[in-house]
Amino acid sequence: MTEQVPQHTGHGHGYLPAMGHDRLLPFYDPFTRLLGVRSLHRTLADQADIAPGHRVLEIGCGTGNLALLVARRYRGATVVGLDPDPLALGRARRKATRDSLPVQWDLGSAGDLPYPDASVDRVLSALMFHHLDRAEKHRALSEIKRVLRPGGTLHLVDFGGHHRGLLARLTHRDPPLEDDAGDRIPARMREAGLTDAGELGRGRLGVTFYRATG
Ligand SMILES: C[S@@+](CC[C@H](N)C(=O)[O-])C[C@H]1O[C@@H](n2cnc3c(N)ncnc32)[C@H](O)[C@@H]1O
Repeated sequence: MTEQVPQHTGHGHGYLPAMGHDRLLPFYDPFTRLLGVRSLHRTLADQADIAPGHRVLEIGCGTGNLALLVARRYRGATVVGLDPDPLALGRARRKATRDSLPVQWDLGSAGDLPYPDASVDRVLSALMFHHLDRAEKHRALSEIKRVLRPGGTLHLVDFGGHHRGLLARLTHRDPPLEDDAGDRIPARMREAGLTDAGELGRGRLGVTFYRATG
């Protein structure tokens, strides 16, 4: 498999959906709640140090749980959730309407962000990075660098090192995920021009928290 060939094309999409297949999407929220993904979201939001007036972008927001948590907690921030999956975005939008939370939901992909240069204060990404093939990982980090305001920060949580985690092993057996994806995240951040890239710690489900500055 070369750098250029997308790894995840066997699903009829140009992206790998949250649970690997569209028909499993209705189970995503109960499944991830059971596994404790909410506490990962809370930790990531704490690490992001969000302030009133910040523009916060979650890339790969899926059914919207992290973006909604941020909108609920930080009323003075502007929150945007982006995902290539219209079905997941539909679920996110319905939850936001139900809870009267003002989140902007955008259809789009990490490798081609539909936002101007230097327009975002915080980029968040939870359990999304392992969905990207190598080439799109690089494009995504370059795009994050482009849209972050000077001094803005990226906060990312994903399966670290060689530890795939229960969630990833259950949902993404075919096609297989990159084995070294987690180990290489800080190096990839630096290659894309981000600074201060590093790990902030490990969490449940075999995840690692990362941070970098734009
Ligand atoms: C495991 S889900 C995580 C959803 C959410 N961030 C959470 O923590 O619950 C991964 C998400 O990444 C999205 N995704 C896949 N490929 C993507 C891409 N190229 N750009 C942005 N998001 C992508 C999927 O559609 C899915 O919603």
